[in-house]
Amino acid sequence: MPHVVTQSCVGDGSCVHACPVNCIQPTPDDPAFELAEMLHIDPATCVDCGACVTACPVDAIKPHAQLDEHERAFELINAAYHRVPRKRALLAPVRPRLTVRDRGQALRVAIVGSGPAAMYAAEEVLTIPGAQVSVYERLPQPYGLVRTGVAPDHRRTRRVSHQLDRIRQRPGLTMHLGTEVGRDVSHQQLLDGHHAVVYAVGAASDRRLDVPGAELPGVLSATELVGWYNGHPDHADRVVDLSHRRAVVIGNGNVALDVARILTVDPDALAESEIAPAALDALRASRIEEVVVVGRRGPEHAAFTLPELVGLRATPGVTLGVAAEDLAGVPGDDPKLELLRTLAPPASAGRRITLRFRLAPQAIAGDDRAGAVELAVAGGPAGQRIEAGLVITSIGYRGLPVAGLPYDADAGIVPNDEGRVVDPATAAVVPGSYVVGWIKRGPTGFIGTNRACSQDTIAALVDDYNAGLLPAPAAAPVATEPPPVARRGGLRHLTRRALAGSR
Ligand SMILES: Cc1cc2nc3c(=O)[nH]c(=O)nc-3n(C[C@H](O)[C@H](O)[C@H](O)COP(=O)(O)OP(=O)(O)OC[C@H]3O[C@@H](n4cnc5c(N)ncnc54)[C@H](O)[C@@H]3O)c2cc1C
Ligand SMILES: NC(=O)c1ccc[n+]([C@@H]2O[C@H](COP(=O)([O-])OP(=O)(O)OC[C@H]3O[C@@H](n4cnc5c(N)ncnc54)[C@H](OP(=O)(O)O)[C@@H]3O)[C@@H](O)[C@H]2O)c1
Repeated sequence: MPHVVTQSCVGDGSCVHACPVNCIQPTPDDPAFELAEMLHIDPATCVDCGACVTACPVDAIKPHAQLDEHERAFELINAAYHRVPRKRALLAPVRPRLTVRDRGQALRVAIVGSGPAAMYAAEEVLTIPGAQVSVYERLPQPYGLVRTGVAPDHRRTRRVSHQLDRIRQRPGLTMHLGTEVGRDVSHQQLLDGHHAVVYAVGAASDRRLDVPGAELPGVLSATELVGWYNGHPDHADRVVDLSHRRAVVIGNGNVALDVARILTVDPDALAESEIAPAALDALRASRIEEVVVVGRRGPEHAAFTLPELVGLRATPGVTLGVAAEDLAGVPGDDPKLELLRTLAPPASAGRRITLRFRLAPQAIAGDDRAGAVELAVAGGPAGQRIEAGLVITSIGYRGLPVAGLPYDADAGIVPNDEGRVVDPATAAVVPGSYVVGWIKRGPTGFIGTNRACSQDTIAALVDDYNAGLLPAPAAAPVATEPPPVARRGGLRHLTRRALAGSR
């Protein structure tokens, strides 16, 4: 097999468009693309040209001969995907270019946020000759969860910031860092200076675990813990108590695996990463030996993805185990289940991660701080209790309301129709207002998933512009001060290397 897609795939589809023989699947025009855990090279048709290697923003594609011992699993994963016969075109799909009518004044778009969804939206607008984009970001550093979410030891994934840097440097883009829309600049000011405003504000909060004891000290959300170890200014000053031997993570998505790994991996392995120095110091002094990751459903419904499970199993110095009783009688042979069946029973000593299933949290027990998690066993009358001094709830992120726009509190998103903001009370479109990324779709998907999402919204915006629905701006775009790093405290907890933007 000539080339293989490995763990750090972010699914942005760059490789698909580079491939001369359309051997990387699923392609962005395939309905399976949005839900795919990664992309896969067909070993039978790959011509070994290496074009995909150059196109990939995160160095996820390797020639077969360069795979390390742990990456060999991806050789099988790529090949297995292509064993299922599917119809496919001979050549990779070509995305139609945006067609823009001359409306007398070049298109001017404000984008709120600078995460992947924002930057992919900017990239799409800037394919239009003469178009101008103003990006407004509340933090003094750009790129959203690429810096403040992606685990610091996922170094290859973090390299996607180079791709975002290239978008940022395009003529026509102005970046306003340290500018919070709704506080420093209003929606109306943005609308006065642009044809349209695109909100790419992500999902800054989290779903709350609604059980007794969830407010006890020692219970933290993944949003808080991830923000802490990545130096997000909202969370960097937190003191996390790592003086206990066991932590429990509730929920088993990819964020839960990130958290479990960061809490157990040898801190020396993080030393050269972009982890916040205070978090690294705390991890060096940590007494945590075991992290138990608890899913409320069976292993066949685990929310983590196969590539991340492969990566977790390869964490040096950490034993990954699963209780045999949790796998007994589980039907199916999908690759994730097969991999789970190869894991050892939970170890009883050393740094270790234990995966548990079918345990639904009922309460966090403890007098003045968390001491144990009480869980109901699915399908059984008995409960279980897992002693733990640190409990992390990793049950999903949640978008916050955007000032002046409608809000769907159940889904934590801004209601929209293909990216056009819609008032659910009247079903009317809110003029000039659009959404992309997690605030549009909810908190799911990889970095690259946001690319197609943003392209769809910008296509809708351009249709509205062509139809004369976006009045010409009455004023110049709002100018801002240089990033007020000192005023906000800045990302002072990020390493000097990150602050210099040298990735
Ligand atoms: C912990 C974690 C780890 C992840 N790891 C991976 C991974 O390894 N690989 C992968 O493919 N995907 C990963 N993802 C998923 C990926 O990060 C998301 O798909 C992606 O970041 C969502 O993009 P977004 O632009 O919608 O939101 P975000 O990335 O959250 O960007 C939103 C931006 O808007 C800014 N903002 C918010 N409000 C305002 C305002 N009022 N004014 C100005 N700016 C504002 C924020 O500061 C932020 O910069 C991870 C997600 C999480 C939570
Ligand atoms: N390396 C990567 O590529 C990477 C890394 C991190 C994140 N991401 C992506 O970012 C997105 C967000 O990840 P995420 O882990 O935050 O979310 P997620 O994948 O949606 O997982 C949420 C988990 O919380 C559980 N849960 C929800 N409500 C619960 C409750 N009340 N009680 C107990 N458990 C509950 C869910 O269980 P049920 O399934 O039973 O609902 C699920 O296990 C995902 O698309 C993920 O793939 C990618």
